[in-house]
Amino acid sequence: MRILVAGATGAVGLQLVPQLIAAGHAVVGTTRTAAKVELIRRMGAEPAIANGLDAQAIRTAVFSTKPEIIIDQMTDLAGVTDLRHFDRAFATTNKLRTEGTDFLLAAAREAGVTRFIAQSFCGWTYGRGGEAIKTEADALDPDPPEELRRTLQAIQYLEDAVTSSASPEGIVLRYGSFYGPDTGMLSRAMIDQVRHRRVPLIGGGGGRWSFIHVEDAAAATVAAIERGKPGEIYNIVDDDPAPVSEWLPALATLVGARTPIRVPAWLGRLFAGEHLVSMMTEVRAGSNAKARRELGWQPAHPSWRQGFAEVASGATAQHAA
Ligand SMILES: NC(=O)c1ccc[n+]([C@@H]2O[C@H](COP(=O)([O-])OP(=O)(O)OC[C@H]3O[C@@H](n4cnc5c(N)ncnc54)[C@H](OP(=O)(O)O)[C@@H]3O)[C@@H](O)[C@H]2O)c1
Repeated sequence: MRILVAGATGAVGLQLVPQLIAAGHAVVGTTRTAAKVELIRRMGAEPAIANGLDAQAIRTAVFSTKPEIIIDQMTDLAGVTDLRHFDRAFATTNKLRTEGTDFLLAAAREAGVTRFIAQSFCGWTYGRGGEAIKTEADALDPDPPEELRRTLQAIQYLEDAVTSSASPEGIVLRYGSFYGPDTGMLSRAMIDQVRHRRVPLIGGGGGRWSFIHVEDAAAATVAAIERGKPGEIYNIVDDDPAPVSEWLPALATLVGARTPIRVPAWLGRLFAGEHLVSMMTEVRAGSNAKARRELGWQPAHPSWRQGFAEVASGATAQHAA
């Protein structure tokens, strides 16, 4: 198949492009900048330059490269550190999820692309009531904290636009929180934060998170090309959803830090905001049962417990060097 990966140079793209090529696909990868064209070539793909918020540039990229399938991995999250102002940090990403999705889908439709796969998120986006582990049939949060409202709306917009598209047929992959190469988790900056005990455990830490190694996210995406069902959404997460009260202390131990400081929810609200308190105390994780069943995919890193340890041993060795 001839596949265009929009956003080929990000955390997912850097894993996905080589996996697609290894699976026998011909790949076109997009970037906004000429500086990253060589990186795309080195992965074995054909580069195309386009800003996802420029409808004409996106149309030209699609028409000039004639893909059969488009995989949208465009987000603008590099350098995002201040999650206290969450909606502000995600503003351009949210534009990509709304306007950008419209531009790319419209170009895909006009150019006769048959399948369109888009990136979404699995985690705090789910409703905070009911089951601790959510399936794709469960509702997204009907009343998110104010600071997450616009981001959730943009995610819902993307999911609705993609899954309601018949031509091209649309599939949405809700990736869990990434770790592994080129992700922020276990980056030098993150390790420093944990070592300096700047990531506190708020409230009881009962919020549940789903993680996914970024190589596994890419492998699920390759599987969705052949086996994903049109109009469907899949949680792409590992087998081991866990409360913050488990994964944050485990992470601290792995990087040689002392146990995270405990902060009561009221204090967390003052310093971090309602939304970050909610992410530590209330949010729900996701089940990968549907992706395992329908995509015939399974994570090579079934639990973040071993996955973090694997990544941390490399990262701390680098840190010490
Ligand atoms: N599920 C998750 O946990 C999740 C999901 C996404 C990201 N993240 C995290 O966010 C951090 C940054 O992510 P990332 O490395 O993937 O980088 P990123 O800055 O989010 O960029 C991702 C891709 O989108 C492209 N892009 C960005 N803005 C664009 C625009 N306006 N038009 C067209 N393309 C655009 C980038 O291309 P160019 O820069 O080459 O133009 C890149 O290929 C990482 O720590 C990652 O783990 C986490």
